[in-house]
Amino acid sequence: MLLYDDDKKEPRATYARALEHMTEVLLTETDTTRVLEGLARIAGETLNADRALIYDIRTDDQLAVALCEWLNPREAVSPTIATYPLSIFADAEAEVYRTRRPLESHAERPHVALSKDGSGVLLHENMSIQSLLWYPFDFRRTGYYLLVFNQVTHARPWLPREIEFLRIATRHAELALMQIAMKVAQVDSERAILEAQKAESIALLAGGVAHDFNNLLGIVIGAVARARSTLGAEAPLDANLRDAERAAREASDLAKHLLAYAGKAQFVAQNVDLVALASEMQDLLRAAAGSAQVTFSSSGPCFVHGDAGQLRQILMNFVVNAKEAVADSGVGRISVSVRREGPKVLLEVRDNGRGMSQDVQKKIFEPFYSTKTLGRGLGLAAVSGIVRSHGADLQVQSEPNEGTTFTVAFPAVGVPVPPRAFPWHRRARASSRIPVLGRTRRSCSSTTATTCEGCARACSTISGTRCSMLRTETSPSTR
Ligand SMILES: Nc1ncnc2c1ncn2[C@@H]1O[C@H](COP(=O)(O)OP(=O)(O)OP(=O)(O)O)[C@@H](O)[C@H]1O
Ligand SMILES: [Mg+2]
Repeated sequence: MLLYDDDKKEPRATYARALEHMTEVLLTETDTTRVLEGLARIAGETLNADRALIYDIRTDDQLAVALCEWLNPREAVSPTIATYPLSIFADAEAEVYRTRRPLESHAERPHVALSKDGSGVLLHENMSIQSLLWYPFDFRRTGYYLLVFNQVTHARPWLPREIEFLRIATRHAELALMQIAMKVAQVDSERAILEAQKAESIALLAGGVAHDFNNLLGIVIGAVARARSTLGAEAPLDANLRDAERAAREASDLAKHLLAYAGKAQFVAQNVDLVALASEMQDLLRAAAGSAQVTFSSSGPCFVHGDAGQLRQILMNFVVNAKEAVADSGVGRISVSVRREGPKVLLEVRDNGRGMSQDVQKKIFEPFYSTKTLGRGLGLAAVSGIVRSHGADLQVQSEPNEGTTFTVAFPAVGVPVPPRAFPWHRRARASSRIPVLGRTRRSCSSTTATTCEGCARACSTISGTRCSMLRTETSPSTR
């Protein structure tokens, strides 16, 4: 067993005992900061240093953030915990990152990397550090941790056995950090699975009920309309029938939102230019936005494969919500933009309204979640269902009192080629059968253009995300 025997100071700790203690601490800790605190304390005590700190070196935002500090209770050293720009230690940090080895420096003889960038003056002169040791560990994609010893009361060397002790101690800490990260990832994935299961069962239930309701309401609306037209507008009960009809239509509208959320709304697929669609809706959206200013921007055309009615529903829901969010801000501003970015078409609606807290943002796509007195909480639930059935992604960025941006990223499709350019359409009409060219057939399994482009007219209904159109494996030139 190695004995650490400092010439002047107590305690006479053994490395083995320190590591045993360390294992106990690390095995019981479930919090990253507490693991690092444990490491700084045990390492500081064992090396009998004046001060031990752990920095989070964040290479992506170029910061050295002190996470914890242990001060030797027997020495009158003052705390130094702070955040520094990495640029102050540019060369020393680069040296540590490159070699992944400890860096030792003394006031008498500063390390060359600290002399090069001038940080030696800050540390050894301004902060009166006689000897220092930087021990890097747990390298990650965007940074690493640095265990730092600052010796202010007297200069001292850092012995090989001390460095060996730090190697084992930091390895222990790395394993503990890895274990915590794995537990966090496991909890996150379990939560995500649970949420997905919950959303699926709600969608199943809501979709089933809404479907039957919608059919029944169709019968009610039809019957009431017939009764009204038979009895005439002068009939004494016409006002009651009109109320019944209006209520049934509202209920049917609700059911349609639920169907959209469940991804079961009627879906007529075609290639749609979102720029043209937004432009056609300008007057409607301005009317829906009331006194808020609405601006449109686009770089078009931007074709996506989907259901035009449902795409309009997305835009309308975003704008109505934005209008409600800007109600209290002085000048309400709503901007609608459609643009192409690589393989995606982005539809973005931004407002300068009241924004949302993180807690609210987590719930807004759940059906029946609303913060409004008269809100039904179905608009964004329906949007999320529509986005899902279009194979798109939905993102929200929001800050309280700053505003909100909703972005939907659709798979982009090329400009649609007129159906006559595809021989199979002519053949399909001639034979009234699903066209099958070549020997191999496969089912087109996506709503995106690469597979469905041109199918739109020959098989215009896509149920869920699967297109029933049969395509061939032959190259265009053989068609
Ligand atoms: N642009 C926005 N700014 C701030 N909060 C928003 C915005 N859009 C949505 N929200 C929040 O999300 C909640 C859910 O929105 P959603 O559209 O689903 O329901 P709703 O607007 O309350 O009711 P409705 O079913 O009538 O649309 C809202 O109640 C509101 O709290
Ligand atoms: Mg709404």
